[in-house]
Amino acid sequence: MHDPARPAPWTQGRPERDKAALYDDLARELDALLSGETDAIANAANAAAAIYHALPQLNWAGFYFLRDDELVVGPFQGLPACVRIPLGKGVCGSAAAQRRSVMVPDVEAFPGHIACDSASRSELVVPLFAGETLLGVLDLDSPVLARFDKADQAGCELLAQVIGRHIGAL
Ligand code: SME
Repeated sequence: MHDPARPAPWTQGRPERDKAALYDDLARELDALLSGETDAIANAANAAAAIYHALPQLNWAGFYFLRDDELVVGPFQGLPACVRIPLGKGVCGSAAAQRRSVMVPDVEAFPGHIACDSASRSELVVPLFAGETLLGVLDLDSPVLARFDKADQAGCELLAQVIGRHIGAL
């Protein structure tokens, strides 16, 4: 099992400037993993597992899907999470309401942060679209302060594009 306190093998010894290339590789791997399967839950589950095990220093990785006017937890890796998040609430609800990524270097400094795992220190949430339609969000939590940077945001937005293409039938 991946130890979130240790860097994943694919980052070891690699300079930060390689991050974009590493997300490109992960995006290609996800595309291959999800291709040929049309079941949205199956693809979201495999995507959450692939991301959780590929990216270092995560304690939660998964999805919240838009159901009417709230987000409902979907497939994920990590500790059990709060099930329903109203639009506009918490980091996930803010990202969904604004239809843009929200990066939080210190969750304790984010007003309204919803604590599901007390180990979480930083968070990155990116919206998930099928075309123009908002499907929900991809949520990554880390036990490390300021774990995510602009390269992670751009990389995760790329991953979300790939995933959105494969779970559009949700
Ligand atoms: N922290 C999130 C809630 C979801 S958990 O992190 C899995 C938020 O504030 O929206």
